[in-house]
Amino acid sequence: MAVAELVAKCLQAREMAYCPYSGFSVGAAILTTGGAIITGCNVENASYGLTVCAERTAIQRAVAEGYRRFTAIAVTCDIKDSFVGPCGACRQVLMEFGTEWDVYLTKPDGTYRKTSLRDLLPLAFTPAHLQKN
Ligand code: THU
Repeated sequence: MAVAELVAKCLQAREMAYCPYSGFSVGAAILTTGGAIITGCNVENASYGLTVCAERTAIQRAVAEGYRRFTAIAVTCDIKDSFVGPCGACRQVLMEFGTEWDVYLTKPDGTYRKTSLRDLLPLAFTPAHLQKN
């Protein structure tokens, strides 16, 4: 089942996190319209502001590998007692590549809460707005 695999992949991706400064590991897995799964983890930097979140690592990888159409993303971190959403910057970056994403907020034990990018980023600014100017 695609969702179970996507969730499993984001948990695996979290194990690759490079986060020596925060100690906060994040994993993401993106599902393409064709069924491929591309993963990412957070990659921190000694110049803290250069840190890249797991979700954006995954998007950059996916685009560089030729994928631009996506249906879902699963995201996880080490927090066990609540479902944690992507940061605001990542929500905007996801929105660049479609408004209809399913988003699976995943706990370390693999349980997840399904939401959508529309719900996470209401009244979003999208590429379509640039066409209306
Ligand atoms: N982080 C992510 O990877 N994704 C998010 O959506 C929120 C935050 C990372 C960035 C940094 O490495 C660590 O979590 C603490 O902020």
